[in-house]
Amino acid sequence: MKKILLLGSGGREHALAWKILQSNRCEKLFVAPGNAGTLQIAENVLLNPNDFQKVKEFVLNNGVNMVVVGPEEPLVNGIYDFFAEDSQLKSIPVIGPSKVGAQLEGSKDFAKQFLQKHNIPTARYQSFTKETVEQGCEFLTTLSAPYVLKADGLAAGKGVLIIYNLAEAQQELRNMLVDAKFGNASSKVVVEEFLDGIELSCFVLTDGKSYKVLPTAKDYKRIGEGDTGLNTGGMGAISPVPFVDEALMKKIEEKIIKPTIEGLQKDNITYKGFVFIGLIKVGDEPYVIEYNVRMGDPETEVVMPRIKSDIVELFDALSNQTLDQATLEIDERAATTVMIVSGGYPEDYEKGKVITGIKNVQNSIVFHAGTTEKDGKVVTSGGRVLAITSYGETFRDALKQSYENVDKIDFEGKYFRTDLGFDL
Ligand code: AMP
Ligand code: GLY
Repeated sequence: MKKILLLGSGGREHALAWKILQSNRCEKLFVAPGNAGTLQIAENVLLNPNDFQKVKEFVLNNGVNMVVVGPEEPLVNGIYDFFAEDSQLKSIPVIGPSKVGAQLEGSKDFAKQFLQKHNIPTARYQSFTKETVEQGCEFLTTLSAPYVLKADGLAAGKGVLIIYNLAEAQQELRNMLVDAKFGNASSKVVVEEFLDGIELSCFVLTDGKSYKVLPTAKDYKRIGEGDTGLNTGGMGAISPVPFVDEALMKKIEEKIIKPTIEGLQKDNITYKGFVFIGLIKVGDEPYVIEYNVRMGDPETEVVMPRIKSDIVELFDALSNQTLDQATLEIDERAATTVMIVSGGYPEDYEKGKVITGIKNVQNSIVFHAGTTEKDGKVVTSGGRVLAITSYGETFRDALKQSYENVDKIDFEGKYFRTDLGFDL
């Protein structure tokens, strides 16, 4: 039996917690720091996931024997290695990649080198530093507009610029490299060719040797209707992606997933966790836009509900490297999630608004993202507040169900996109 510590506090973590608690292998679930949703189903712990020493104390004092990592930061900071190298912790599995593996998300340059080395389709690119900024400006002239500039390091989803004008792109490259526009994260910048197509996300569980392909999903990143306005963490998601037919899935598996897992092995990279592959379909061909070393948010809120198999059994198989013997069963139904956000997000917004109506929701699952409990009431505490997930025969049926329930929930400044799926 497992006492599991889940690190993180968003909608992704509520969905992971919900799924973990369906397992009869889970005896006790702690979520650190969690939110008002995880508080209702598990035990929240006031713990910073990046303070590994504190995580260690908690794990040892509470008999935790599995750690599941939600967000990328602790992984990029090396929580896997911290456990593996500690004599008291090394027998406790951490679900996630090693520090080197997490570089697939932590460094765009590392990811591009990996993709190129293993012949995985991706946009043509070069990387530049302060010392080579003029070569970077030169390289830009060999590409055609729009230009894609990516800060190498983690930049909270803001480190990618797509610019339509050459002079402006060159200026931004200087801002990133010379003026440290994104701090240390942009001390190196990947400049790459723009790919024109439709995006989708593919999720894989791997023990470093074999893999299981989880349901695909598509998220809606822009704040405004019709995919306009600022980028957000994601305003909703749909699974499966309707335009992924058998032929495309086969290409994704053969040209992208298999070489990725084989590449990890060839490069001796320890990886026992989720791989989130951001793809773009150009014509009939899939290309990798990015790797993430965790699940997506809000994609988790549609992917977890479609997994029928016991997730803790799968996590056990990851740590024992017996994933090839495990089975993965997927629910045939579609799932969608609609994010309800705070007015003003992704820019400034107010917090602490009392949320009403959650109890009236019927036939949908309410995953909490930015919520907290205050004086016995659930109040907003983040930009993305609640994810309303539903099943349906088709994604349109599922969306209709989610939207019916979104209407029952209210708080001051409530906002959501009414047009998810408009492009499908
Ligand atoms: P990333 O953080 O690498 O996922 O980039 C953020 C977003 O920028 C992606 O979701 C895409 O919409 C877009 N993007 C990144 N790279 C490219 C590219 N080479 N061509 C077109 N769009 C891109
Ligand atoms: N929804 C995109 C992400 O989690 O990165």
